[in-house]
Amino acid sequence: MIENSSAQFGIAEFVCQTTPRISPTSIVLPFPTNYPRRLTMDMLPALSRSTADLLTSLFRIASVISLVFMDTPMVDAQSNRAPKTAAEKFKNVSVLSDMPADQIGKVMNMMSASLGVNCSFCHEGTNFAKEGVGHKDAGRKMISMTLGLNKEFFGGKTEVTCNTCHQGKTKPASNIELTQAKPIFHVHQPQIKPSVDDILAKHIQAIGGKQKLESIKSRHVIAKRREPHGGSEPEELWQTANGLTRMVTQYGSVSVVEGFDGSQAWKRANENGIELKPDEAEQIKLEAVIAFGGNIPSSYSELAFLSADRIEEHDVIVISGLSPLKMQERLSFDSQTGLLRRRISSVATLLGDFEYQVDYEDYQEFGGVLQPTKIRFAVPNITWTREIAKIEMNIEIDESIFRPR
Ligand code: HEC
Ligand code: HEC
Repeated sequence: MIENSSAQFGIAEFVCQTTPRISPTSIVLPFPTNYPRRLTMDMLPALSRSTADLLTSLFRIASVISLVFMDTPMVDAQSNRAPKTAAEKFKNVSVLSDMPADQIGKVMNMMSASLGVNCSFCHEGTNFAKEGVGHKDAGRKMISMTLGLNKEFFGGKTEVTCNTCHQGKTKPASNIELTQAKPIFHVHQPQIKPSVDDILAKHIQAIGGKQKLESIKSRHVIAKRREPHGGSEPEELWQTANGLTRMVTQYGSVSVVEGFDGSQAWKRANENGIELKPDEAEQIKLEAVIAFGGNIPSSYSELAFLSADRIEEHDVIVISGLSPLKMQERLSFDSQTGLLRRRISSVATLLGDFEYQVDYEDYQEFGGVLQPTKIRFAVPNITWTREIAKIEMNIEIDESIFRPR
């Protein structure tokens, strides 16, 4: 049973964490106050089911109780209110109280990923507010301990996180593993820092050169969203060189559509608007801009060389920069080819940085420029891959498709 409104928020947060593209995304479910608050568990998405199933279940529920998503206020950032704290929004939050409420999904997914478990390790079904369940009490003690360690020993900086000790296990190993035969790579750091301008110039040359890139005004992409369990959903994208974007992912009868119309980023599932957090809105815009290749220099400020590193068997050069919303990003370019291999955006939370990682792979030529055809997305606890079958360049696009309605 759903017993209270915070549990209902919980469901929405959870379901959408497993939904498309940028996760976790929360939907605010404005349950009508007169709606009988007794839904049976079997109507609710089981936590272990696939994304498609989860979504379908959500929208089955949604249609039963006819939610009016768009009537709710959009992101806090768009109004001038101070963002709600977790204690204000959720029922039984006593140690994460002062954290922004919209980070609860991020933090819960980071805790789960650190321990290598899913939500049901500490919660019963989707009743996230319920106490005395599973390892919730142990989890709360551990949160207090972790915050305490940082406060007492690290001057309040988030140095210790769940993952510092847990590393994907519920019980951290205290003994030293004697069989570790993994070779340790010492990545050679350059004596003289390479210049960011040179790295970016090489990158632009690698994908096709400035002139060629500037001749491309629009893209139309046919792709698949591949889930970690193997299933997939069709995806289609339309993008213009000035940053407008629209992407449709088809989950059975549910179309999840997101876009940017030049002033506003938006997302909806069928006719129901989905609330975007500022970092999610920003990623929708950035992904579209970056897809055109030559726009990295103009998309970031304070670009600086960070380090030489390795991604799988490739040597890379990592630079850091600030996104338009001043979020910290790291961009890794292949040392040999100059191609962009990885992009990581981080949002600081009470329990460490929540990272959103995009890996660009299998570059192929379309209209004279190299484009990645396999794009892997990962956030703590959730991964998915976009497999691109076809990209058409410079097609006519009616710009009205970029608007939310
Ligand atoms: C290691 C245990 C643990 C895991 C795993 C975990 N949680 Fe939690 N969760 C907690 C604890 C502890 C609290 C209460 C925190 C506090 O008191 O500040 C909580 C609180 C919540 C709340 C607020 C509920 C309310 O209204 O009071 C939500 C929503 C939530 N969790 C969702 C999730 C989701 C979704 C997942 C899986 C992605 C998850 N949790 C995984 C331990 C866990
Ligand atoms: C300083 C190291 C350390 C940190 C940081 C840490 N833990 Fe733990 N945690 C442990 C150890 C050690 C145990 C095992 C205790 C035992 O075996 O009784 C444990 C046990 C647990 C358990 C109980 C597991 C079980 O199977 O009973 C949970 C749940 C848990 N931790 C959650 C968390 C969460 C969530 C965080 C971050 C908020 C966290 N821990 C941070 C060291 C740590």
